[in-house]
Amino acid sequence: MEFNISSEEQYRSYYQKSIQDPATFWADIATNFKWKQKWDEVLDYDFSIPKITWFKNAKLNITENCLDRHLEQNGDKIAIIWEPNNPNEDSIKLSYKELHTKVCQFANVLKNNGAKKGDRICLYMPMVPELAIAVLACARIGAVHSVVFAGFSSKALASRIDDAKCNILLTADGAFRGTKTIDLITIANAALEMSSSIETTIVLQRIKSDIKLKKQQKWWHNEIRNVAITAEPEIMDAEDLLFILYTSGSTGKPKGMVHTSAGYMVNTAFTFQNVFQYNKGDIYWCTADIGWITGHSYIIYGPLLQGATTVMFEGIPTFPDGGRFWEVVAKHKVNLFYTAPTAIRALEKFPIEMVNKHDLSSLKVLGTVGEPINEEAWHWYDTHIGKGNCPIVDTWWQTETGAMMISSLAGITPQKPTFATLPMIGIQPVLMDDNGNEITKNPAEGRLAIKFPWPSMARTIYGNHKRYKDTYFSTYKNKYFTGDGALRDANGFYRITGRVDDVVIVSGHNLGTAPIENAINELSEIVESAVVGFPHNIKGNALYAYVILHDGINGNDSIRADINKLISKHIGPIAKCDKIQFVKGLPKTRSGKIMRRILRKIASKEMDNLGDISTLLNPDVVQSIIKGCL
Ligand code: WT7
Repeated sequence: MEFNISSEEQYRSYYQKSIQDPATFWADIATNFKWKQKWDEVLDYDFSIPKITWFKNAKLNITENCLDRHLEQNGDKIAIIWEPNNPNEDSIKLSYKELHTKVCQFANVLKNNGAKKGDRICLYMPMVPELAIAVLACARIGAVHSVVFAGFSSKALASRIDDAKCNILLTADGAFRGTKTIDLITIANAALEMSSSIETTIVLQRIKSDIKLKKQQKWWHNEIRNVAITAEPEIMDAEDLLFILYTSGSTGKPKGMVHTSAGYMVNTAFTFQNVFQYNKGDIYWCTADIGWITGHSYIIYGPLLQGATTVMFEGIPTFPDGGRFWEVVAKHKVNLFYTAPTAIRALEKFPIEMVNKHDLSSLKVLGTVGEPINEEAWHWYDTHIGKGNCPIVDTWWQTETGAMMISSLAGITPQKPTFATLPMIGIQPVLMDDNGNEITKNPAEGRLAIKFPWPSMARTIYGNHKRYKDTYFSTYKNKYFTGDGALRDANGFYRITGRVDDVVIVSGHNLGTAPIENAINELSEIVESAVVGFPHNIKGNALYAYVILHDGINGNDSIRADINKLISKHIGPIAKCDKIQFVKGLPKTRSGKIMRRILRKIASKEMDNLGDISTLLNPDVVQSIIKGCL
């Protein structure tokens, strides 16, 4: 069976096969990879436990599939093009051969530092080639990588280190971000003070600072000296852990989503290939950070599995100016471009000359991910970046799903602005009504669930299987609940309308409101707080905090600044609140639960549409909040 889907009929027939006989279908797709040993059974699952096993007892190493497999025919082909923050610094190109060498070398560094199969290794790094190399080096030796986005605070880093009991930390002396430098090592050191499991820290010199390392800390460049440049890949079971990646949830503690080896490999490669309609020789650029799932699946694994050339960008879209993305597209002749709606909305605000002075004729396919794209941004992207000639894939998926779940296939299946459109092969989405029943008619609107396993789904929450079950498999019996609302049109196309739980997507970042409230509540002036999202024309959503102060304290901007400082300290600057309103009370149900629905409506200025507030314990508080908000 062809790995590439090249017509709509083929999509339909693959989809049918993948639903009617998933085991045969995925076994066929899986033959495209290199296995040390084939599986005994393709799928074994029970959502009520939940327990999901794909490619039972198969043995493999994903890096052999990302690297070794390409060496003979494509060893000199460029695997990674790295574009630095500063356009005057040279970009770096690594061929598959070179990347293989560097990954093996760093795999040996990790081993020399005591790392072994199953150990958790934390990466807190800038977007430099060494990050991709280190991720793959972990996978090479069977260590579990846990990448923490370099915008997170020391507290957030410490809690992630502790949760997974990581024994090695990989970090850098600093990171460049636009005109700023971020002092990564100081943040990392503060995290090390608060956590206990790290035995060794390896520090990359990126900003060439003259810091002195502490005990148990080593310079990266010293460690790679005189180290062998070959390393046999560790043989991994299909269900051995590949990585942990944290995502926010509706309680304070982040969830360490666990992804395993074989199913993740098969599905990221298959979706990369078919959604982008990748052709040999295409230059592909995903602008995400490797600290997020998009970077894991579609900067590193998906593209490298397919032998593609993947661009990695260290900087930000607006440095040195708002034309940087387009400059980089022209510079590296990017063919397939994947970004977030929030970036598109931010870049449309610049004079169109910033786009038009760059030659974008290499572009063939455009993609978006992370949040719903509004119609206006979709058209701007289509007209000004795609010049009306590039299909746009709006890819809906999650950290938990590992790979794209609902998306068109570029130029193959129909697209519709603001709609993610059709399910990927093997994905069985369903809409659920308020009574927990599946809605089968079209058109329809409801909560989005998935009723059958897919190969790249997260298998558990690290160290907390019960929470995995409660969060994803308890809302609807025998279904995975996504936390999103969606509608489905007459043709069966899905449009994701946004989160229906206490998660807010801000600039494409998934933020739980609970940890933000916990941070705010630490301030001694504060009694209680509630955080909700409200529409923002660039970020998609921004955060709105309602805060109750102790008697006798008057709210002012200095308290607002303190609140945001605390949030930065606990979580990171990405979670700062745009609006902070001091209130006398919060609307609560009789059982004491804050009615966030009402707060969301007020923050969104939908005061006339508050719904039924008669069940509130304290309905009067609503009027006073509305007054304070106007
Ligand atoms: C949440 C997952 C998938 C990688 C990046 C985010 C929202 C994601 C879309 C889209 C509408 C989207 C959902 C989802 N989301 N893609 N194309 N259209 N919404 O991963 O941080 O795990 O966030 O992002 O609300 O549940 P994440």
